[in-house]
Amino acid sequence: MYQIIDGKKISQEIKDELKEKVAGLKEQGKNVALAVIQVGNDPASSVYVNNKKKACAYIGIESLAYELPEETTEQELVELVEKLNADDKVNGILVQLPLPKHINEETIIQTISPKKDVDGFHMQSVGALCVGAKGYVSCTPLGIIELLKRSGIEIAGKHCVVIGRSNIVGKPMALLLLRENGTVTVCHSRTQDLKEITGQADILVVAIGKPKFVDETYVKEGAVVIDVGIHRNEQNKLCGDVDFDRVAPHTSAITPVPGGVGPMTIAMLMNNCVSSVE
Ligand code: GUN
Repeated sequence: MYQIIDGKKISQEIKDELKEKVAGLKEQGKNVALAVIQVGNDPASSVYVNNKKKACAYIGIESLAYELPEETTEQELVELVEKLNADDKVNGILVQLPLPKHINEETIIQTISPKKDVDGFHMQSVGALCVGAKGYVSCTPLGIIELLKRSGIEIAGKHCVVIGRSNIVGKPMALLLLRENGTVTVCHSRTQDLKEITGQADILVVAIGKPKFVDETYVKEGAVVIDVGIHRNEQNKLCGDVDFDRVAPHTSAITPVPGGVGPMTIAMLMNNCVSSVE
């Protein structure tokens, strides 16, 4: 029988731990505040932003919401971020992505002070992760490490295969697994003989962005499979990058969609906000 890794339950445990920590900080007179910026009203972004605000309220983090119109210029957004960088009452800054096409995301990400970069997207944060220095780490891969650890899954010495090389998930995922002493292979859209490589994985992390792409022919018997994808199918039902029903019986542990990796991203964002004050 395989273990279903329950991200909903684990993220709830983390949020409860953080709630206690925030209460402790408040007793010392320390407030935790996160600025959340959304430009335009992309419906998916609005859902994510609302979930982030709700999580802040639950834990006791103050959320400062900036809902800017679609026509906001890059310069206006840069000025807002600079103002928040200089504001001692703001501990973390989150700019929800994607931004409207006329705004260069990279410019905005690099404007956020690394001290307040709770998303872990700034070059300095990524560089720190790469050399093993202190810094914020991207929330989704950090959440995956936490899922593995809290599910009693050993990483050290294991062959960890990551499919996907994005700056937000694939690359930091590979670096984190390496930090945990895994043996890491990164695959991507140009990889040849993908199945041959994924078939060697003890831990397979799938962040490919294609619904139900990975079936049982990609997976070694008894592997741990982590699904980062989230899609809506024709019946409006959520599914991941992994065909859960076909793959799960061949694994020792697997994350479901929904209720696997997704809830961990917000829990780790909250974790990063609290550590910005600690
Ligand atoms: N859009 C999708 N995921 C994320 C995330 O983790 N952070 C931000 N800022 N925007 C996103």
